[in-house]
Amino acid sequence: MNPPDKPNLPDLRISYEIGSLDEADAPSDPLELFRRWIEDALEHQLPEPNAMTLATIGLDGMPTSRTVLLKGLDDRGFHFFSNYQSRKGQELAQNPRASITFLWATRQRQVNVRGMVWKLPQQEAETYFSSRPRNHQVGAWASTQSAEIPNRSWLEERAAAVEAEYEPATAIPCPPHWGGYALLPDEIEFWQGRRSRLHDRLRYTRELERWTIQRLAP
Ligand SMILES: Cc1cc2nc3c(=O)[nH]c(=O)nc-3n(C[C@H](O)[C@H](O)[C@H](O)COP(=O)(O)O)c2cc1C
Repeated sequence: MNPPDKPNLPDLRISYEIGSLDEADAPSDPLELFRRWIEDALEHQLPEPNAMTLATIGLDGMPTSRTVLLKGLDDRGFHFFSNYQSRKGQELAQNPRASITFLWATRQRQVNVRGMVWKLPQQEAETYFSSRPRNHQVGAWASTQSAEIPNRSWLEERAAAVEAEYEPATAIPCPPHWGGYALLPDEIEFWQGRRSRLHDRLRYTRELERWTIQRLAP
């Protein structure tokens, strides 16, 4: 079969013209800039502005990626919650190096973060788990995340069994295989789309406790 002579998608090109990112606007702490950008995404009512693509290194050395939700940000880095026995959990246990990417498409912005991932204390997982809607708590017990399962009914029966185990008035405990992670950034790159594909890219790199800023070619 001959390859098509042009991509078989309509022309989706747009011009990026709504913002800019100047060194003069870049605070010395990249987390401050990240907070400004996520607040901007919230103000513009972007759907799930805390969704981020988490890339890990597979057990076979191949990268894998998936979306997770940012649930906290502090000196320990970017927090998310998941199943420790999932594919990502197994990969992080073997190799804690990871990256995350935020795309706020209508704001013409991307943020890329690289660093090491650490588990959050189980106490924090329990506190957060207890704040989740009950059906999400049930799901965390019912799902053997990332494992092959026979069919949809198998999953729904497991969820029904978890619900039957706990009286409605009884709190559902946090599963031992479920918890939080924090990605401690070594590098954070802010990308702002600009006219003529001459985008702004500022990369912060951490050396010990100091951040340095470099401008990258788009
Ligand atoms: C918008 C969105 C948000 C998600 N948030 C999470 C999350 O916070 N934690 C999680 O474990 N999975 C989340 N998922 C599901 C993951 O993308 C993924 O399917 C799951 O974690 C299993 O990934 P793994 O097999 O690579 O471990 C989310 C998916 C989407 C599309």
